[in-house]
Amino acid sequence: MKRLLIKGGRVITAVDDYVGDVLVEDGRIAAVGTSLEVQDVETLNAQGRLVLPGGIDVHTHLDMPFGGTTSADDFESGTVAAAFGGTTSIIDFAIQYKGQTLRDARDAWMRKAEGKAAIDYGFHMIITDLPQAVEDEMDVMVREGVTSFKLFMAYRGVLMLDDGSIFRALLRTGQNGGTICMHAENGDVIDVLVRRALAAGHTAPKYHALTRPARAEAEATYRAICLAEMAEVPLYVVHLSAHEALEKIAEARDRGLPAHAETCPQYLFLSYENYEEPGFSGAKYVMSPPLRPKGNEEALWRGLAMNDLQAVSTDHCPFCMKGQKELGKDDFSKIPNGAPGIETRMSLLFDGGVHRGRLSLNRFVEVTSTSPAKIFGLFPRKGTIAPGSDADLVIFDPERSVTLSAATLHHRVDYTPYEGRVVKGAAETVISRGEIVVKDGVFRGRAGRGEFLKRRPR
Ligand code: URP
Ligand code: ZN
Ligand code: ZN
Repeated sequence: MKRLLIKGGRVITAVDDYVGDVLVEDGRIAAVGTSLEVQDVETLNAQGRLVLPGGIDVHTHLDMPFGGTTSADDFESGTVAAAFGGTTSIIDFAIQYKGQTLRDARDAWMRKAEGKAAIDYGFHMIITDLPQAVEDEMDVMVREGVTSFKLFMAYRGVLMLDDGSIFRALLRTGQNGGTICMHAENGDVIDVLVRRALAAGHTAPKYHALTRPARAEAEATYRAICLAEMAEVPLYVVHLSAHEALEKIAEARDRGLPAHAETCPQYLFLSYENYEEPGFSGAKYVMSPPLRPKGNEEALWRGLAMNDLQAVSTDHCPFCMKGQKELGKDDFSKIPNGAPGIETRMSLLFDGGVHRGRLSLNRFVEVTSTSPAKIFGLFPRKGTIAPGSDADLVIFDPERSVTLSAATLHHRVDYTPYEGRVVKGAAETVISRGEIVVKDGVFRGRAGRGEFLKRRPR
């Protein structure tokens, strides 16, 4: 039996906060206590450190064809980077292309992950085409552990679904216990604005943001809420960026509707002003929804603190500046949408949230691990520190300062949106199902050791 004893750390879950020990046996947590005496066991001294449940990032795009290229991290580089940052589970997105079955899409993404993932992974299914046979197949996916579906209200002709199909998908999840994740932006309005901007000769990266108004996000968010309300099912809005959209979620929750939403670090730490950086540098931040004007981020922090937002994911969708973002050098609409962030989420959130007094330690754990686990059918296997749970643990140094830089991060991208930013709080030792995968800045895991997460329906 493989055993590990983590001694004397400050154990934090969404509800606990005590100095104690955690005993790990065969990949699971065997016991927690204030002074466990165990013989013949490898001991990790966690004094002066926090012991946290492993981070869960429910929004990543590894090895994903998009915007005329493929995201730069595959399941190996992406999950290794995640582990360095203190994330021990991800949920990535498989894509069903038009005419394809969901099973084929799921199997294609399984093949991308198998033999490569260094931490555990699950999949949401992006549905781009919903004939009756595919609608029926949604039940099969839910039974087989792919219990959530992403639908797009933008990117017409590529990923976007019409409202009727969205409504049918929502109704179906009411029966099969799945969850709909919504990309909420009014795609048709955006397409008109993009065509007009290009016709006027506006080609620079900043026009990506100027053609995707916050109101287009708020309108789609409200429409999604209404569709889910009429279908009488819960809803999860992904990568919420604008306070105008947050108002719609808060209003729905105040009415008692099961509306959930995540935001991402880029919307908490960056702003429209980044698009004004010289030359083509603004392309680093081309993502959808775009960064919003300064001031917006405080509304999102408040939303996190008040539980109008339930999770912080990364939407890690990395493209190198060289050879990838460059595709849009003369036309902002050809810049592949997305940015890296899988490794920096926990440190950024800890620094901006806990150290800046915006989030309690418990709330930090809740939005980075526990809530995502609950919403997506992983709790209590993941997302907490309790006997029987997977031993996904992070020994976290709350006082260590780190300067974020592409030169030292482990993702396979030639930039980070946070270059030079100093953050306080960093993962020191990362344990995945009882195995030390990162210690003292060294990766000790193995590509392919990550397991597929068959998730429970609602
Ligand atoms: O710009 C983004 N967000 N790229 C990834 C695809 C998506 O919509 O999540
Ligand atoms: Zn999206
Ligand atoms: Zn995404």
